[in-house]
Amino acid sequence: MTQASRPTILTGDRTTGQLHLGHYIGSLRARVQLQNEADQFLLLADVQALTDNVGRHQKVTENVIEVALDYLAAGIDPAKSTILIQSQVPELAELSQYLLNLVTVARLERNPTIKEEIRLRGFERDIPAGFLTYPVSQAADITAFKATHVPVGDDQLPMIEQTNELVRRFNNTVDRAVLVECEAVLSKVTRLPGIDGKAKMSKSLGNAITLGATPDEITKAVNNMYTDPNHLRVSDPGRVEGNVVFSFLDAFEPDVAKVDELKAHYQRGGLGDSVVKRVLNERLQTLIEPIRTRRRELEEDRGEVLEILRRGTMRAREVAAQTLSEVKGALGLSYFQN
Ligand code: TRP
Repeated sequence: MTQASRPTILTGDRTTGQLHLGHYIGSLRARVQLQNEADQFLLLADVQALTDNVGRHQKVTENVIEVALDYLAAGIDPAKSTILIQSQVPELAELSQYLLNLVTVARLERNPTIKEEIRLRGFERDIPAGFLTYPVSQAADITAFKATHVPVGDDQLPMIEQTNELVRRFNNTVDRAVLVECEAVLSKVTRLPGIDGKAKMSKSLGNAITLGATPDEITKAVNNMYTDPNHLRVSDPGRVEGNVVFSFLDAFEPDVAKVDELKAHYQRGGLGDSVVKRVLNERLQTLIEPIRTRRRELEEDRGEVLEILRRGTMRAREVAAQTLSEVKGALGLSYFQN
């Protein structure tokens, strides 16, 4: 990658839970790689988390630290990536305010992800205004850093689309290319299932393995994994589709030939669940051990973690303030300059 084309990446996490292997596979592992190739901003989206956690603000703020610990333990290097806390960058709220004039309530109500979330949360007509408008706040997160690439899951594609609409509308309004359109980067790996075989790993469903899991917790989770309910005797042929142990091996075992061989043997019959589970358990123990160890060390040194977050947030504020001053300048809101 040449210097001129070095992308700016912005990621955001609603900070409502400790990260688990699903996050690791879906995004965190890629971010650890991308920090070498791009100018990467990692946003801890506590303001957005508050839009559907009114009254649970304490949980939200506690989780900011938990997620930061997960990032750092998994290999995010503060010398390469900028970790920032959304609520501590007031420029983002200010930018949101200007963007809000460029979107209609009808358009906000059409965002499919918002629609689905409103349904899931049972808001019906009592939708908090902050919730309905969070895609605009998210557009501010992205555009404040002039991000060119935003790694997301497919549920976030409507947010990227809305962001780019706002960018075009703003630039058209001021007749100047101030804000930058971005591109969604979809993660290649398919979604990791929960250990119970449900489509999605999620802490609230109780089917997750967290990045701080103890050796016992990992072993227990692997032993409880959903396999093929019809694979009763070792000699029976087994199914690998929908078999969580094999989904995990696909995701975490780099030796593809070894996984293919295990699959073929399992399908033929003669390979017991316990053997495959042992292979996976060893793999996951090896993966999580250094993350857990690093996490424990960092937990002992919260002052250092807060200092990393403070420095990242300060750096982010400088970048966001520059964009905001261009935005206000383009709108003529620069009364006291020159
Ligand atoms: N909406 C994202 C989520 O629910 C979090 C988020 C906040 C985000 N700001 C962002 C994602 C900016 C990408 C870019 O997980």
